[in-house]
Amino acid sequence: LFELPDFDQHEQVVFVSDRDSGLRAIIAIHHTGRGPAMGGCRMWPYADSVTAATDALRLSRGMTYKNAMAGLPIGGGKAVIIGDSKTTKTPALFAALGKAIDQLGGRYITAEDVGTSPADMQSVHQRTRFVAGLEGEPGRGDPSPATALGVRVGIEAAVQHQLGVDRLQGLTVAIQGLGHVGFDLARQLHEAGARLIVADIDPSRTQRAAEAFGARISSVDDIVAAEAEVFAPCALGAVINPSSLPRLRCQVVAGAANNQLATDDLGEQLREAGILYAPDYVINAGGIIKVCAEYYREPADSVEGRVLAIKQTLAEVFATADREGISTRLAADRMAEARFS
Ligand code: NAI
Repeated sequence: LFELPDFDQHEQVVFVSDRDSGLRAIIAIHHTGRGPAMGGCRMWPYADSVTAATDALRLSRGMTYKNAMAGLPIGGGKAVIIGDSKTTKTPALFAALGKAIDQLGGRYITAEDVGTSPADMQSVHQRTRFVAGLEGEPGRGDPSPATALGVRVGIEAAVQHQLGVDRLQGLTVAIQGLGHVGFDLARQLHEAGARLIVADIDPSRTQRAAEAFGARISSVDDIVAAEAEVFAPCALGAVINPSSLPRLRCQVVAGAANNQLATDDLGEQLREAGILYAPDYVINAGGIIKVCAEYYREPADSVEGRVLAIKQTLAEVFATADREGISTRLAADRMAEARFS
């Protein structure tokens, strides 16, 4: 385990086992220089504990970069529970995780993620106050609209840099995935006068976008190759990969999905292809900005300004990449490292 990628860059990695509830979890704390490590708790049927630890380390490191670039007073961490969220979830499991988090004394603050829900976080809360995004508290809610807002202004920054235009009117944006973020993004882009091409594995969602926003529907396979200035991945990770990259016909890749690049070197390949990439963890930070503000009980109206600031941050990333002749991905990483180390 000590040889796993990024292990030696972490401040602390905690293995949790609770016999009564059956909990097996790993809490990875990457960096707390800016404040307590915050990052969601993922529940996934990992094949083995090494795979789970690898994921926890990768994700917690990513949270440090994301939180630093969003200017938040928090570091990066992540918890993973080994198990199938559809069959092995119990309140006792999450209460046991809460106990382990509490023992860290506030160095790690958890929240929901893939496979966990606000209700699960309520069970965590039985044993610790170091949990964000609880169910049913006034002013607490879905982070997706904040994420969509950040992506919209991020697209504005990207087209300004790449195409020299300061409005979305008349541009075409291809959106992959019309879920919580993608559908709200479609609405905002439509209101700004953009034309839309959309794809989703759920045909009722594309139909709804066609009716509400006049969106053209693409097949799931062809959306990466849509004739559009902007491609906005809002579904899966690894959507930019060696087979999709040559098919891209856009000038900008800017969307909400996490881990859009299958491998880091694709950032450089996008640059060489003349396509401007808005690094995923910078453009999709609206949700964590909202969750963090709620956790610290900051006024709800402080959130919007910080989300809108994603536009300026991205403009700085693009300018740095140009100046240094490097990919936007690398430019963002270097800017983040300067903010947390
Ligand atoms: P969601 O689960 O609500 O929506 C995903 C949508 O993508 C669904 O409509 C699904 O049917 C569709 N989809 C799945 N596979 C597809 C495929 N092969 N082609 C086209 N569509 C496909 O998820 P949500 O919350 O909208 O998040 C979207 C992405 O943004 C995810 O990668 C998520 O990790 C990321 N993200 C979300 C944040 C949030 O605030 N919700 C914050 C930061 C990142």
